[in-house]
Amino acid sequence: MAKVKTQYVCQNCGNNSPKWLGRCPQCSEWETFVEETVGGMAETGPGAGGSGRGRALEVPNTAFEQLGDGPGVTSREPRIMTGIQELDRVLGGGLMPKSFTLLGGDPGIGKSTLLLQMALGVVEANPGLKILYVSGEESSEQLRSRAYRLGISKSKAGQSQIYLTCETSLERAMGAVAELKPDILVMDSLQTFSSGYLQSVPGSVGQVREVTQRLMTLAKAEGVSVWLVGHVTKEGSIAGPKVVEHMVDTVLYFEGEGTQNFRLLRTVKNRFGSTRELGVFEMEGEGLKEVLNPSSLFLSERKSPVSGTAVTCSLEGTRPLLIEVQALVVPSGLAMPRRTAVGVDHNRVSLLAAILERHLRIKLSDRDLFFNVSGGIRLAEPGCDLAAAAAIYSSLDDKPIASDWVFLGELGLTGEVRRVTGLEGRLKEAAKLGFSRAFVPEGSNKKDLDAVRGKIEIVRIDRIVNLTQVI
Ligand code: TYD
Ligand code: MG
Repeated sequence: MAKVKTQYVCQNCGNNSPKWLGRCPQCSEWETFVEETVGGMAETGPGAGGSGRGRALEVPNTAFEQLGDGPGVTSREPRIMTGIQELDRVLGGGLMPKSFTLLGGDPGIGKSTLLLQMALGVVEANPGLKILYVSGEESSEQLRSRAYRLGISKSKAGQSQIYLTCETSLERAMGAVAELKPDILVMDSLQTFSSGYLQSVPGSVGQVREVTQRLMTLAKAEGVSVWLVGHVTKEGSIAGPKVVEHMVDTVLYFEGEGTQNFRLLRTVKNRFGSTRELGVFEMEGEGLKEVLNPSSLFLSERKSPVSGTAVTCSLEGTRPLLIEVQALVVPSGLAMPRRTAVGVDHNRVSLLAAILERHLRIKLSDRDLFFNVSGGIRLAEPGCDLAAAAAIYSSLDDKPIASDWVFLGELGLTGEVRRVTGLEGRLKEAAKLGFSRAFVPEGSNKKDLDAVRGKIEIVRIDRIVNLTQVI
């Protein structure tokens, strides 16, 4: 192996040293030194001929082309369909060739299962495509037995076009890629791979950066779609430097509630599509099953009306999803009453409580307020404000809300109920699931309301104060 020089670079000020230092002598920051290859791997890697000491530096001109000039540029690049609808939608309509995707999630959530199923789906939907699955975590027996469990034995294409290798050396994995020339490469997982050019251990900041950087070069220069699995730390971010998320094209998170077996696939960053898409799966004995109509999952099972709960329809990317919000308002013995929120921003709940206190003339400042979104989903959309307000008011007044009513609207500080986007889709979803009455903002678009005429009763609300008269 050609000798590659490495050095330690301070991530704070850029100072470098041949040895690792605990504290940077230049900027006095602690533990900022990270091992890096000198000049970057792309230039100094095997076969590149080294830096050639003493030779004049040759800087070749960078090729450039005019925007819109390239051959074969179409308005939409052909995507690789993965055969898993939920995954395709989350990716923005299929997997982009030459893309680099990072899949993060807690250990055991089902990342390896998802990617193995994707591999199966891809070769079935696109005969001729080759996939290489590099696992640094599992033995080939483990991978094989999992693949059989997922039904690979039934697929002729799967048996011939999916290749497995168990490897933790980045260079050897790259060697396998060079030999096999796959269309899709899965690297499972980021924290287990290491480059022999760095002395630091797998999973260290230097290694994580190096592995990501070289896979990025592979994706863009060789035209391989790369999937990289990343574990998530206790704080919920992908273990390793933030720079990994900046480098890749797409960041997906796979999440789930500990006790339940459904899983949510969420886009955090996507250069090729919306970041608000949500894919829903259920983990079963034979792997992950898609949940194509997940609204029922997030509605708790109740037949008779109870106080403190209201249903809204949130727009998760392009898909409307019916979600139940619950509030519990109880007298507080504390000087500073508690405001606890699960599944929604804590500050948003405090803000809603303040709006209700002012405009409904109710007293919440001497009460504890607990807020929960059922099904472990996170609501980040202001269109759910009206439902939250209805749930709080219903709990305070012990006034049950019918289980087939749905609330849509954003609340302004002055107590007005504001319009929401995508109203038609949300109302259609609610009507489809048998909801009988929808509370919508006064200023809603007539066209949206006409689209569901006769299917669901519409009640318009212009100000939050009117809520007390209609529920
Ligand atoms: P895995 O994909 O190994 O998780 P990760 O790669 O994110 O660490 O999934 C492991 C869990 O999924 C394990 O607890 C068993 C469960 N599982 C099923 O319930 N059904 C299945 O068909 C498979 C393959 C796994
Ligand atoms: Mg795994």
